[in-house]
Amino acid sequence: MMAETKELNTLFILENGDVYTNPTEVKMSQFILPCHANHRGELSAGQLLKWMDTTACLSAERHANCPCVTASVDDIDFEYTPSIGQVVNIKAKVNRAFNTSLEVGIMITCEDPFSGMQWKVCNAFATFVAKGAGLQKVQLKPVIPRTPSEQMEYSIAAERRRMRLHHLDTIKDLVSSSTVQDEPNLEESQSAVAAGKTRVESVELVLPPHANHQSNTFGGQIMAWMESVATISASRFCKGYPVLRTIDMFHFRGPSQVGDRINLKAIVNNAFEKSFEVGVCAEACHLEDWDRKTHINSAFMTFVVLDKDGVLSTFPHIKPEPGDGERRYREARARKKIQLDRKYIISCKQTEVPLSVPWDPSNQVYLSYNNISALKTLATKQNWVLNCTQNKAKLFTLEEGQQLFFKVEMTVSVNIKQVFMLLSDMSRRPEWDTHYQKFELIQKVDEDDVIYHVISPSVSKGSKFQDFVLLASRRVPCAEGDPYLIALRSVSLPAAPPTEDLIRSEVLCAGFTLSQDEDIRTRITYYIQTTPGILPYITRDITGLSADLCKIIEACNQFLEQNKDIVNVAL
Ligand code: COA
Ligand code: ADP
Repeated sequence: MMAETKELNTLFILENGDVYTNPTEVKMSQFILPCHANHRGELSAGQLLKWMDTTACLSAERHANCPCVTASVDDIDFEYTPSIGQVVNIKAKVNRAFNTSLEVGIMITCEDPFSGMQWKVCNAFATFVAKGAGLQKVQLKPVIPRTPSEQMEYSIAAERRRMRLHHLDTIKDLVSSSTVQDEPNLEESQSAVAAGKTRVESVELVLPPHANHQSNTFGGQIMAWMESVATISASRFCKGYPVLRTIDMFHFRGPSQVGDRINLKAIVNNAFEKSFEVGVCAEACHLEDWDRKTHINSAFMTFVVLDKDGVLSTFPHIKPEPGDGERRYREARARKKIQLDRKYIISCKQTEVPLSVPWDPSNQVYLSYNNISALKTLATKQNWVLNCTQNKAKLFTLEEGQQLFFKVEMTVSVNIKQVFMLLSDMSRRPEWDTHYQKFELIQKVDEDDVIYHVISPSVSKGSKFQDFVLLASRRVPCAEGDPYLIALRSVSLPAAPPTEDLIRSEVLCAGFTLSQDEDIRTRITYYIQTTPGILPYITRDITGLSADLCKIIEACNQFLEQNKDIVNVAL
């Protein structure tokens, strides 16, 4: 039995002294040979996608104990292009199983065996669906995360799943709200390259080596074929050697089998200053019925070209074909905007993201993801120090480098769904929190996200009042045992500019996690990461859970008790 453990650096040591390894972890190392590379000696991205998919699929199958197929792969940013003679190392492990699907985290590095140098190539998250014999759905067993980093990935995987299942709708919404500026510019089109010149059509026959033992084509093989036609289309446009930089999140809509013919079509959708997007679509034709075509995948790949000094080349505009071409031109611009937002908000480390990120419909999904995942990360932190206990509340602190975190825990005799409804209704917070002197709803983004403005009294006599613009994101549990969450972070938006009479202050990460204790008791944990704006409110309290904080906790308790029967808990 694995029992109490402690983590040493990145090693997790079991009680018996053994080093813990995740049971689903699969590693693959490959020497890059000329057959894996293009004519410039660089590893072909398609080959890398095949290796990634195989490693991830083997990891998924270790957990599922049955064959799995690739359902989707989240956006990938390629940071380094490995070359012949280098070694690619791929590590995959299952982060979380949902019902029939599971998320696999994949990390790819590359090393030069002679110098010993190592580089990160990319990381990725792929979703696989378990396919048992016949049509019966396979209910997967849950993953039990053991190390703090596994617990964090497990927790955030639920938020990534939500994001990928909304991905198509997000793109559709953005495209439908795109403005006139996104229309192709007729003056520019004089010197523009006609998109039609970049069109590529190709076909592949699915043979047994391209498929698993159940004859299902490997997702990695389809991705490799798609990457190959996309690269040809890209070369026709740039008249040089394109380098694949990013692949947009994509979804395998339908399966294909040995014997299918895969039709692949690619064209340049839009060109930006230093990059351009190629769209590629794959459909399967079946030997028994040529007219029955199944659309299996569409992918959008962004390429760049580097000159001999490694400087990014500049591109001419693209002249889209009328109809679908013009629509794809606009959609490519929307995807570009989303990619930039995602990079800015998600790919940055938590500490690198500025406190108040400007809110915008195109980055809403990522800001909301960032809001929830920051709270989840905070909630998985270890080594909290109990500072004091007063009434039913406990105050903990945690110092990490320059950062200071607080958490307050209390238990109330109120149903968890009621607590969630009451605490996530920000307009009611002034009823119990004296820091919320004036509250104004600025925007209801969707069912689970609101942006609001709050004015707080001054901390010291004579100083100005402070104000905050906050994004509140709430989540019901993805599965039994998950907590309810209400996350808060500062954002900025033109509708609520800073004013002279108030000190605009910021919150990087704060919020509540709620979990069921016994019967109807609910454990409420409030977390906050300190920033200069909120530090004065907290440091007054740290010396002994000051009367002020105590009053707020008591008021919160009373508010929940008094309102426990009034709200509708149809969640
Ligand atoms: N990204 C990630 N997971 C997705 C998804 C997406 N875009 N779309 C659906 N899923 C997940 C669902 O969340 C669900 O997971 P859960 O059971 O854990 O909740 C699971 O896929 C099944 O969803 P369901 O709605 O029942 O099925 P579907 O009709 O949407 O089918 C696939 C989903 C992936 C099974 C189906 O599209 C398919 O067979 N695709 C081809 C897969 C394949 O053969 N790949 C290899 C290359 S061809
Ligand atoms: P959409 O048209 O919404 O982009 P599709 O799945 O039809 O979605 O196509 C995905 C991408 O594949 C397109 O954006 C385009 O770049 C490319 N594509 C689709 N059809 C063709 C075609 N007939 N010829 C060349 N490329 C195509």
